[in-house]
Amino acid sequence: MINIGILTAGGDSPGLNAAIRGVGKAAIGEYEMHVVGFENGFRGLVHNRHRTLDSQALSGILTLGGTILGTSRDKPHKMQIGERQLDMTPAIIETYNDHHLDALVCLGGGGTQKNALRLAQHGLNIVTLPKTIDNDVAKTDVTFGFDTALGIATEAMDRLHSTAHSHHRIIVCEIMGHKVGWLALGAGIAGGADVILLPEIPYDVEKVAEAIRSRVRSGKRFSIVAIAEGAMSKDVAPKVWAARAAKDAATNKEEKAAARAELAALERGLKGNTLRLSQQLEEMTGLESRITILGHVQRGGTPSAADRVLATRIGTTCAQYINEGRFGVMVGVAGNSTQPVPLTEVAGHTKYVPVDHDWIKSARLVRTCLGD
Ligand code: F6P
Repeated sequence: MINIGILTAGGDSPGLNAAIRGVGKAAIGEYEMHVVGFENGFRGLVHNRHRTLDSQALSGILTLGGTILGTSRDKPHKMQIGERQLDMTPAIIETYNDHHLDALVCLGGGGTQKNALRLAQHGLNIVTLPKTIDNDVAKTDVTFGFDTALGIATEAMDRLHSTAHSHHRIIVCEIMGHKVGWLALGAGIAGGADVILLPEIPYDVEKVAEAIRSRVRSGKRFSIVAIAEGAMSKDVAPKVWAARAAKDAATNKEEKAAARAELAALERGLKGNTLRLSQQLEEMTGLESRITILGHVQRGGTPSAADRVLATRIGTTCAQYINEGRFGVMVGVAGNSTQPVPLTEVAGHTKYVPVDHDWIKSARLVRTCLGD
């Protein structure tokens, strides 16, 4: 019998349970495998906290939000154990061997793909699934969780419209996305935002204010601004990008620590950005402004139909890959199909919104201000 382990890591995302069910049901029903779930991400492997995922355990979870296995942002090679940060890879390998695992399935976003690759390089048979509401995993058209979060953020924009309109206000709505703006862009387009600000396109606050003033001149005395949590002004963005590049390029521990500290200081300065922008716009336009930070509401609750279908598709494909002995890969989505993508092509890469993407072009054509 083939034994497989499964874990969920990184921030949770709607569709994780649907994916666990997809992997598990296909693994058990079609390929007669034995499935073990590890709790709270890679930490569950370190402490051997597990439970058998049989048909009964997989029943009734398709529509549940969150993850029945729990999750964490723990990294195998740098795990906080008491006061110390330790490389727990050997403990993970031991648990993998103790369970006689033939494969380990890791469900996660960019960080998880990197951690999974490290384990694959230590000889474990790994298959990953791309999950995150940010939709920023490389080499896949889409990640599960994105569609649900997009729906939630769009509904919020719809609701903000009527109150902004009634009060003749600006409402600045912050949408998740620290480095990438897929969610803010998608929800901004779907929700008819007047301004959309993304991490990929540094904004000029004067351009944003002018777009709002121009609406006032044409009789529209309210505006909705959709801003990604990681959006930056044109004064700050080059410094942050340079610090990120310096961190990636650092060749030794000291350089890396210094680059990290500089980046952290710059990123601390970004906190409160949405509030600052709202205050600036109030002063520059004379309109009242309010902020709404959607936060973790976007990650909670039942997955959309599209996410359930996607998670089931790639989950069942994952079981098929394991049966065929295809390891060291992520199940990538390419149109209506799926494909095995080597983890080396995924880990460490981020799928940013290309500035010439069709969604950007369309947003500009419907006269949405992108702040540039
Ligand atoms: O990666 C998904 C995400 O929701 C990002 O959009 C956001 O920046 C981050 O996680 C928040 O992380 P946490 O839940 O750890 O605060």
